[in-house]
Formats: sequence, structure tokens, C-alpha cells
Amino acid sequence: MNVQTQRVPTTAVERVTTLSNADLNDLYDAAAAAIDDGGGFGWLQPPDRDDMIQYWKGVLLIPERDLLVARLDGVIAGSAQLQRSPRNNEAQALVGQLTTFFVAPWARGHALAPHLVQGVEELATAYGLKVLTLDVRATQVRAIEIYERSGYVHWGTNPRYALVDGQWITGYYYSKDLDGSQAAFSDRS
Ligand SMILES: CC(C)(COP(=O)(O)OP(=O)(O)OC[C@H]1O[C@@H](n2cnc3c(N)ncnc32)[C@H](O)[C@@H]1OP(=O)(O)O)[C@@H](O)C(=O)NCCC(=O)NCCS
Repeated sequence: MNVQTQRVPTTAVERVTTLSNADLNDLYDAAAAAIDDGGGFGWLQPPDRDDMIQYWKGVLLIPERDLLVARLDGVIAGSAQLQRSPRNNEAQALVGQLTTFFVAPWARGHALAPHLVQGVEELATAYGLKVLTLDVRATQVRAIEIYERSGYVHWGTNPRYALVDGQWITGYYYSKDLDGSQAAFSDRS
């Protein structure tokens, strides 16, 4: 009998403060593949490799931004960012934003996405933040499913959230209290 064992790929999520050239190129490839697949985090078309690599290098330099990457078998396959308020915004010092979240199509289905969300939340908690917010196109149903399963509560809708191919796309706004004290205030269902 021919018994075949299926190898389970290794997964990891980590915060990065530097990226090697190989990692930068893998991050470009993962982001470009996600954008080509329908994106959801701003870009409509993948920019040139050099331009996007400059963008990722810039992210690493912004004091209020933290970059997390997800790896599948060691290769960067997805990413998310924590955006904290600038120092002049004292009123929102305890509110952060989960942003620029994606997993490359070839790496989906390995639960990298909820681990990225969890990684951003753990980092936000370590910074002492109390609330995370995020916004998402209404068409990104997979991301919305993951956010809602992770405890994010929908509180607002903007029918003119983004313009894609000449059509206005609705966007949803979500919030999560990191100490779990959030009252239900969803207005979507
Ligand atoms: C949204 C996106 C990141 C999801 O990636 P994915 O690979 O499909 O999702 P994953 O397999 O990593 O995670 C989903 C699985 O994790 C598990 N999971 C989801 N939420 C979970 C939670 N809160 N706790 C534990 N496990 C959870 C489930 O097993 C789930 O699979 P299932 O729904 O089939 O049961 C990906 O589709 C993507 O990049 N889309 C385009 C960009 C985008 O929409 N970004 C967000 C808007 S800015």
C-alpha cells in the first residue's frame, strides 16, 4: 500500500523592524498577488516593484507604525500594520488602527489571517492601547468574516468609501475594545 503523508507547512507571525532584500521582495510579491486578486488595502493595481519596496521601507521608518508579517514555510506571505495616533493627538492616544491587512492568495487557508489580527491586538495591548478600529470595503467578505469572528463590532457605513473602476464602493467601520468591555452597537444586521 502506498501511504502518502501530507506535510503541514510551518506558519509564523512576527513584528519586523528591519527587512532583508529577500524579505522586501517576498513582501512585494505577496502584496502584488493580493492586489491582483482584488486587493482591499488601497492599491487598485500593483505599483512598480521599486516603488512598493520604497513604501515598505517607509513604513519601517514611521514612528507610529508597526509592521507585522506572516510567514508560510519562512516566506513572507501576508502582512498587517498597527497605526497609533501621532503624539499631538492626545485625545486618541489610546486608540489604534489595524490597517493594510492581507494574505497572498497562495498562502490562504492556513489561519495566517486571524494570527495577524491577534498579533496586532497583542502589540496594541503591549502599547497600552484600549481600542482598535479598522475599515474595510463591503466587498471584502472574507476579511469581514474574520474581523467579526475576532470580535470587531460594525458601527458605521459609508456608501462612498472608495471609487473602484468608476463605481462607488461601500465601506464598513469596525471597532474592538481590547479589554473586552464593548457594548453591542452594531447597526448593520
Ligand atoms: C482577508 C484575508 C487576509 C483572509 O485570508 P485567508 O487565508 O482566507 O484566511 P485564513 O485561512 O488565514 O483565516 C481564516 C481561518 O482562520 C480561522 N479563524 C478565523 N477567524 C478566527 C478567529 N477569530 N479565531 C480563531 N480562528 C479563526 C478559521 O479556521 C478560518 O477558516 P474558515 O473560515 O474556513 O473556518 C485574505 O482573503 C485577503 O488577503 N484578502 C484580500 C485583502 C483584504 O481583504 N484585506 C482586508 C481589508 S483591508
